[in-house]
Amino acid sequence: MFQITFITNDNKQISIDEKTNLLRASMRNEGGIPFKCGGGICGTCRCRIEEGLDNADDVKKKERNHLTEEEIAQGYRMACQTFVQGDVSVSWVPLSERKK
Ligand code: FES
Repeated sequence: MFQITFITNDNKQISIDEKTNLLRASMRNEGGIPFKCGGGICGTCRCRIEEGLDNADDVKKKERNHLTEEEIAQGYRMACQTFVQGDVSVSWVPLSERKK
């Protein structure tokens, strides 16, 4: 078992028992990570893994379309393309605060 903490959603914490897609875990447990396409295209699920980056899998090519190397080094990921298998804490910019 491991925990996913949704920092931007009042630090909501959920327990997961096997490697999971970060966006799917959020959707199933009302974690709150914004999304549209679910397929690595729109960029809406952009988030930052603030703790536990080592517990996320490798950055995908589709993610690199939306993120700079510097952002990746800072822990930014696309939730729909990211699988986690250990404790992570994730934050994001709420849709209402994003530039149009
Ligand atoms: S939801 Fe569209 S890129 Fe992840």
